[in-house]
This record gives sequence, structure tokens and C-alpha cells, in this order.
Amino acid sequence: MSVQLKRLTVVGLGLIGGSFAKGLRETGLFAEVVGVDKDPRSRARAVELGVADRCEATLAAGCAGADVIMLAVPILAMEKVLAELATVELGQAVITDVGSAKGNVVRAAEQAFGAFPAAFVPGHPIAGSEQSGVEAANASLFQRHKVILTPHERTDQQALRLVRKLWVALGAQVEFMDISHHDEVLAATSHLPHLLAFGLVDSLAKQSENLEIFRYAAGGFRDFTRIAGSDPVMWHDIFRANREAVLRILDIYRADLDSLRAAIDTGDGVSLLGIFTRAQAAREHFTKMLARRAYMDTMHSQDVSYLAKPGGRLSGRVRVPGDKSISHRSIMLGSLAEGTTEVEGFLEGEDALATLQAFRDMGVVIEGPHNGRVVVHGVGLHGLKQPPGPLYLGNSGTSMRLLSGLLAGQSFDTVLTGDESLSKRPMGRVAKPLREMGALIETGPEGRPPLTIRGGQRLSGMHYDMPMASAQVKSCLLLAGLYAAGETSVSEPAPTRDHTERMLQGFGYAVDVQGNKAAVKSGGKLSAGKIEVPADISSAAFFLVAASIAEGSELLLEHVGINPTRTGVIDILRLMGGDIQVENQRVVGGEPVADLRVRAAKLKGIEIPEELVPLAIDEFPVLFVAAACAEGTTILRGAEELRVKESDRIQVMADGLKVLGIKAEPTPDGIVIEGGQMLGGEIDSHGDHRIAMAFSVASLRAHDDIVIRDCANVATSFPNFLGIAQGAGIQVAMESKA
Ligand code: S3P
Repeated sequence: MSVQLKRLTVVGLGLIGGSFAKGLRETGLFAEVVGVDKDPRSRARAVELGVADRCEATLAAGCAGADVIMLAVPILAMEKVLAELATVELGQAVITDVGSAKGNVVRAAEQAFGAFPAAFVPGHPIAGSEQSGVEAANASLFQRHKVILTPHERTDQQALRLVRKLWVALGAQVEFMDISHHDEVLAATSHLPHLLAFGLVDSLAKQSENLEIFRYAAGGFRDFTRIAGSDPVMWHDIFRANREAVLRILDIYRADLDSLRAAIDTGDGVSLLGIFTRAQAAREHFTKMLARRAYMDTMHSQDVSYLAKPGGRLSGRVRVPGDKSISHRSIMLGSLAEGTTEVEGFLEGEDALATLQAFRDMGVVIEGPHNGRVVVHGVGLHGLKQPPGPLYLGNSGTSMRLLSGLLAGQSFDTVLTGDESLSKRPMGRVAKPLREMGALIETGPEGRPPLTIRGGQRLSGMHYDMPMASAQVKSCLLLAGLYAAGETSVSEPAPTRDHTERMLQGFGYAVDVQGNKAAVKSGGKLSAGKIEVPADISSAAFFLVAASIAEGSELLLEHVGINPTRTGVIDILRLMGGDIQVENQRVVGGEPVADLRVRAAKLKGIEIPEELVPLAIDEFPVLFVAAACAEGTTILRGAEELRVKESDRIQVMADGLKVLGIKAEPTPDGIVIEGGQMLGGEIDSHGDHRIAMAFSVASLRAHDDIVIRDCANVATSFPNFLGIAQGAGIQVAMESKA
């Protein structure tokens, strides 16, 4: 336990100062909490309400002997208070404040003290309410709210640690920021919205004929203008204190407002739809952040764990979400097409959404997704615009590799970035052949992301013999081929998924496929159409294995894409003795689709035929679980590609299976697994969605609980995995935090 501090002095007993004093008084961290306020009534009320032990009228009386002095006065009063504070004997006291603009506080402190005092820790809690005054003081006001500390270069580290500790004791989340960055961020996220709210209400109110409007104003007006009820004096101070940063963001907003005006004036509906759909997507993203859901940020992903209980049996019918590969391509080709493409069954997972957002950022108007429906207003092969910043592609290798080909042929520069896992994945495999076509691409060290792609290059078609079986590399080059002079062709060492070739043809673009070689010529155009995305066989695979290994199961998987370049998982399971029937086969939008009926079966270990590896490349994590439940040994070779997926899937699966008591020996290009009894244990999925789902399936045959760490990325490919898994009979749920 740390020693109790002697005295906290809070100058200014309004909502923020009063709440800080009251909250810390309740923690007992200080022997005494002293309030300083000019207003005698506030001083008396503060003591009555338990906000402070005693109150003083002057700084000199209040600050004597204080360990910490919190300045919670209005921002423009800060100058005067600091000047007076500089004349008071402060001893070792640490000073901090809560001003919502920091540059001016720092300047005022420098002026008052001659140089910035090392004991001063500027801060700003992002909390408040429309209420004000000491009566509104609330000890839990800062709980789960952010507090930004903006230490000056002269700020003493010990003082910084102490102030941080106080905010943490109040339940706040403390972050650090550079002073000017803080002021820019707050100008945009807080000051501008308040300015607009005050301004709009005033504009409408001062025109007498508009007063009528208020009588009919409904939710929209109320929501938008709620903050115009805030304290006018405080806000008038803030705009004067943060003048430069506010003016900068206001000018940007004025220009955008002019564009909106022009779009309305000229009846430009597509531009309006573009602005509104982008804004809606950004707002949804923000709502998720507010709900503290992990999103595109692996920092948080480690927080999500699954708890899978042993045993269970699968039954019923399941329709898993849309195919990831086809969903990516529907946005890409829909954007490059002429006309409007309607997509049904789109996968609303983070990977495909990253592609969707990238095209929105390049000026494509995209409506949705709403229940799997997306409408893409194509801009033609030459209609993309330079995005405002780097394109962040999250966890999605497909987005980055396919986009790199497409972007190499544009007239503008782009930068492609991704999360921690994507940032480790090899991009040399696309950068090298693209450079041979004349593209200018810079990668990070060892050919890893980020990728910087220089626009305005003349690409020339060429033939490329792919050294590895990769649909992403093939697709990347075919997309670059749409922009390269002459013909671009790719041949692959083994068949890989051919969704790009099929969809290009579906959009009326000629692709010449001869054996293992696919070729395109530039100069054509894509014509928009309708796309129906089948359920993803890679997601269905978890249930194919689950129903196979859980005794007494029978499950029907509906509307699954069974493109022959994707069905390796069915072939491998059948070779192991699996009972899978393909029913109701049909062709939907150029892709074969069927319902898959799977029954429990006694599986046996096999040597997996190497030619099936590319046809089941994403399904191996769960196939390894099938191997662990099979009688005998399963041997996989020729699958070194698994080492460079979202994680090193050979190593991570071997480690996890060993935790469960299974003999699993990794080899450079595969694994050897002995079937056996699975125990329980704690598994690290390394943020790999398919590993997390594979071990959820393993629980069906485990003897004890399996806890799976780092599962947030399941949302990249299979949103609502837990709901669907539970509905089918797998006892897996989010682990509740103790
Ligand atoms: C994909 C191709 C495969 C696969 C990935 C999706 C695609 O990657 O693993 O999940 O949509 O083209 P590789 O091309 O690296 O094998």
C-alpha cells in the first residue's frame, strides 16, 4: 500500500473540480481535501455535500502544504489563476488542470512562472454533462471515461505518474498526447460540433418565421442540438483559447459544406449518396468503438476469449455467412464496372468490409451492407479517385494482394496498411511480378506491408509462371492486366480458386482460360450485374468437421458454394471416412452451389494427397482437429503456405493440439498428427480466426473445458460464429470476465 498523501487542493468547485474532489475524497488517498472557490455559497455547499473537508477563499490559504493542486477553473481564468499561483509558496506541490484546450494553458504557465514548471502536468478529462455547479459533483463522473494527459517536455516524470494514479483511482482510462495534437483532435471532435449546434439553433431561432419550426422539431433537431444547451460562457472561453485549431477544422468543414450545397444545387444524387453512405459507415464504426467492441485493432483483440465446454451433438440446418473471396471480388469488380451492381449474400465480416471501405475511400458510392445486400455504383475502370489517406486493410491479406494489382494501374499514389498480423505477411510475391510489369511499389523490410504504390506508371502485359499456388497472386496480376498494355497471363503450379476469372467473365470481360493458364487483355470494360454470394465453404468446413466428429450428429449446411477449386475439404474428409452428401446442386450467378448433409462417422488417419492442398488451403486448422479425432496417423505434406497465413498455422495448431494432449509434430511443409483423446486446456489462437474456430470445434471431443484466447478476429470471416455454433450444438461462448 502506498502512503497516504497529506493534502489535495482543488481550485474551482464546479462540476469537474467538484467531482474530482469528491471522488478522491472517497478513495481516502489524501488525508485532507481542500476546496478553493471565490463563491461563498459554493464553498459552504461543497463542505455540506462532502465534496471537500474544508474550503478557502484564496489560493494562498488553500494551497499551503498541498501535495497536489488541481486547477479546475474556466479556461480563460487560468491565466489569472496561474499568475497568482506563481506568487504563492508551493513547496513540492504537483500542479495539474482540466482545461479542454492545452496550448493556451501551457503558454499561460510559461508566462506566469517564467518557464514551464516541472511540477505541472496538463490534463483534460473527456467527461462532463450539461449540468454545472458544485451541486452536480459526482464522484463517479470519470469512471470509464478517457483522461488525456499532455505532459510538457519539462514535466517531471514522478509528477506525471502521481497525476496518472489519481485519475486511475477515479476509474478513468488515462492516455497521453502531444499538446498540439490534443488541441487539433478536440477542435474536431468536440469544439466544432458544439460550434455547429450553437450556430444552427441560433440561425433558426433568430429568424422569427422559423420559430414555428421549433414547435414541430422532432428527434433529428433534438439530437443534433442537445449540446447547444451547454454553458455559453465556458464555450465562449474555449473558442478563444483554441482559436487556431478550431479555425483550421472549420475551414475544412466549410469547404465540405460547399460541396454538399453544390450537390443539392445540381441535383447530384450520387455525390449525396456517397457522402451519406460514407458518413453512415463511419458513424457505425464509431458506435462500435463506443460499445468498446474490438474493431480493426489487435490491441483489443486479446481481450476476447472463448470458453468451449466438452461434448455435444449437432443437428438441424445451418446457413453460414457469405463467401469471403467472392464478397471481396464483388466490391472490387462492382466498383470498376459501368453501372450499378447489386450484391446479395455479401459477407459482413471485417475483411470484406475493409475492401468495401477502401473503395468508398476511393470515391465509389456503395450502399449497405444491409442483411447481406450491397449496391455498388460502379465508376468504370478509370473512375477511382485518390483516397484521402492510407487504405487500412485490417487483417485481410486478400484485400491487400488483390488491391495492389489493381492500384498499380491507377493514376494516383496509394499506401496500403494492415494490422499486426497482416503487417508480417509476405507481399514480395505480388510486388515482384508487378514490378516486372512496370509497377512502382515500395514495401516495408523483407517485402512486408505497408505497400506504397506509385500511380501513373505504364504497365506492360507479360506472362508469369507462379512459383506457388496462390489465387491471390493470380488475381492480383489479372487485375493489373486490366490496365497493362497487351496481354497478361498467369500459370499456376496447381489449381487455385478461380472466382476472379469467373466473376470477370460474369461482368462481360473476356478471360482466356487454357488448362492452368489464365489471360486477360486490357482495353475492355466491365458491365455491372447482379451477384449472389453463396455461403462460404471455408466457414461451412467447421461444421463439416464438427458433425463428423460428434457422435450422433446429422446436420444440413444450406446453399454452400462448391466451386471445384474449393471442395478439397469434402474430398479429404471423405478419404478419412466422413459421411458427406452433396444435395440439390445448382448454379447461382456462375458459381456451383449445393446443400451439404453431414453425419457423424468414424474417421481414420490418412496421407493427405498433395494435389488437394490448394483446394483446402484455408480448411487445414479444422482438418487437423478431424485428424486428432481420427484413428491412426494423418500426414500432411506440401503445405508450407500454411506457415504464412494469418498465423503460422502449422506451428500454432501443433502447439494447441499438444496442449490438449495430442501428438502433433510439425514438419517444414506440413504436420504429422496421431489421433487420440483430447483433454482440455488453454489455447492461444494468435489472433487467427480459423484457429479460434477450429479449437471451438475440438471441444466436441474434448474431456474438459477449452479456453481459447485472442478470438476477436473471428469477426473477420465469420460474424455470429458463436450464435450459429451454439444453435447447431457446439457449447462455445464468450468467456465471461471474472
Ligand atoms: C484467397 C486465396 C487464398 C486463401 C485466402 C483467400 C482469395 O490465399 O488462403 O483466404 O480470396 O484469393 P493464397 O492465394 O495466399 O493461397
